[in-house]
Amino acid sequence: MEIALARARILVTGANSGIGAAIARQLAASGARVAVNYLVHPEATDALLAELRGAGAEAIGLPGDVSDPAQVAAMYAGLDRQWGGIDGLVNNAGIDGAHAPAWEADPAAWERVLRVNLYGSFLCARAALQRMVAQRSGVVLNMSSVHERIAWSGYSAYTASKAGVAMLTQTLAQEAAPFGVRVLALAPGAIRTPINQDVWGNPATLRDLLTKIPLGRMGEPEEIARVATFLVSGLASYMTGSTVFCDGAMSDYPEFAHGG
Ligand code: NAI
Ligand code: BGC
Repeated sequence: MEIALARARILVTGANSGIGAAIARQLAASGARVAVNYLVHPEATDALLAELRGAGAEAIGLPGDVSDPAQVAAMYAGLDRQWGGIDGLVNNAGIDGAHAPAWEADPAAWERVLRVNLYGSFLCARAALQRMVAQRSGVVLNMSSVHERIAWSGYSAYTASKAGVAMLTQTLAQEAAPFGVRVLALAPGAIRTPINQDVWGNPATLRDLLTKIPLGRMGEPEEIARVATFLVSGLASYMTGSTVFCDGAMSDYPEFAHGG
């Protein structure tokens, strides 16, 4: 069984790093046209675009902060101008935020996490759905996390944002289904990327993390990218409105921790 995306126009947000870059690579390898949104590190975007184009793919770069309505509008105007619209959106951009118990958290920093992870996903989905509902086809894939389900001390903004992404996904899926448009969420476990380098870069914190993952290792971005590519493809045509977990059973870890 091969995934063939037939030049589908797919926007991946936060795509110049980690999971987003792996998804961009896998989508391109499956025949999609890929729009690489990025906020910082234009040089990383240039390198990724050169790599994708070198492998024969069509790829464009689209700068923009997903939490800013004007920048999101500009991003979609760029897509409309260059490719005449969109067939798939991967709402991948996200931040963990600073570690702090709620009573010590800076409200502005807390709000920023919600703005990027939840409001940004809404803004990008809204613009995508305007186009997909009109053309009666398309897929939105929201990057959630095991932390839509399991608590994570010190990261209440992050867990709240990802739980919000889960319900955003279900509601948008219900709204868009009559128009033949699917909306899904993908919940990775602990994947080795820059976002959690402070954890896997330190033997003590890595050891602690691994006790919470039944498969006994962190995941790699490519393992998420393969699932993401399947979910946006026609092979997943009967899937909408749910979160798919790809986590080495990490979402079972409260029970696992007591299992001995
Ligand atoms: P990463 O830090 O490598 O990538 C995040 C990307 O989002 C970066 O390119 C960053 O510049 C971009 N970004 C941040 N704020 C942005 C904004 N306002 N507008 C546009 N782009 C913005 O981290 P990683 O791990 O690749 O994370 C990707 C997604 O996966 C995030 O949504 C994260 O919450 C989620 N995730 C990651 C897990 C992991 O263990 N690495 C596990 C579960 C979920
Ligand atoms: C976070 C990572 C963390 C992982 C497992 C993800 O949602 O972005 O920083 O390592 O969950 O806790």
